[in-house]
Amino acid sequence: MTYKNRKPSIVHDSKEGYDKYAKFYDKTLEYLDSFEQGKLMGVIGKIKGKKVLDVGCGTGRIVRALTEKEAIISGVDLSSEMILVARKKFPKVEFAQGDAEKLPFKDEEFDVVVASFLIVHLKTLQKAFDEIYRVLKPGGFFVVTNINQRKAPKLKLAEQNKIVIDSYYHMPDRVTKALEDSFFFVEKEEFVYESGIWINQIVKAVKK
Ligand SMILES: C[S@@+](CC[C@H](N)C(=O)[O-])C[C@H]1O[C@@H](n2cnc3c(N)ncnc32)[C@H](O)[C@@H]1O
Repeated sequence: MTYKNRKPSIVHDSKEGYDKYAKFYDKTLEYLDSFEQGKLMGVIGKIKGKKVLDVGCGTGRIVRALTEKEAIISGVDLSSEMILVARKKFPKVEFAQGDAEKLPFKDEEFDVVVASFLIVHLKTLQKAFDEIYRVLKPGGFFVVTNINQRKAPKLKLAEQNKIVIDSYYHMPDRVTKALEDSFFFVEKEEFVYESGIWINQIVKAVKK
């Protein structure tokens, strides 16, 4: 196939894009894990018996690790197809379809909220951070990761068929500022580096 005949990648919003990409997503798990280098679970710490919500849970990459920590887990995601995959893998976990900016949960339901590689798909952070603050119990905490991705990658569905999902770059300072603007206290901030460049920011923010 010549360059001229190659199909252009279509840009999708998160729901549409991840609905299409859901059955291919788990091929990327090891690659995604490499952005955390084991640090995320260290920041989350001990959560045995705690009520934990994974926002933008996808196919449950983080749910697996949270299960190993013996937490009581719920997952929420915009994409029903991603949730379908997650449900098959974790039949005992409660999954809901919903938007981080309008979470389908009551006030102060969770001890811990985790959002891994979610905010790269949010144009602005405040609404989602306010919602996460709302569903957390006082004294609870939120752990968020922020991938250093300035350009959305092309995701391969099948041979010659690639899509792009709307993504947004967030400067680390803006992430901590947005957390503070949602009344969180930023307790810990860690960076994962590769070849001297940060590739992932991990922040723990507490609802005092
Ligand atoms: C890169 S995946 C990350 C999945 C999982 N957290 C992980 O670390 O493997 C991003 C996920 O966020 C979901 N997502 C994007 N925007 C969302 C929103 N506004 N509310 C809830 N989920 C959203 C997507 O559907 C997708 O499943």
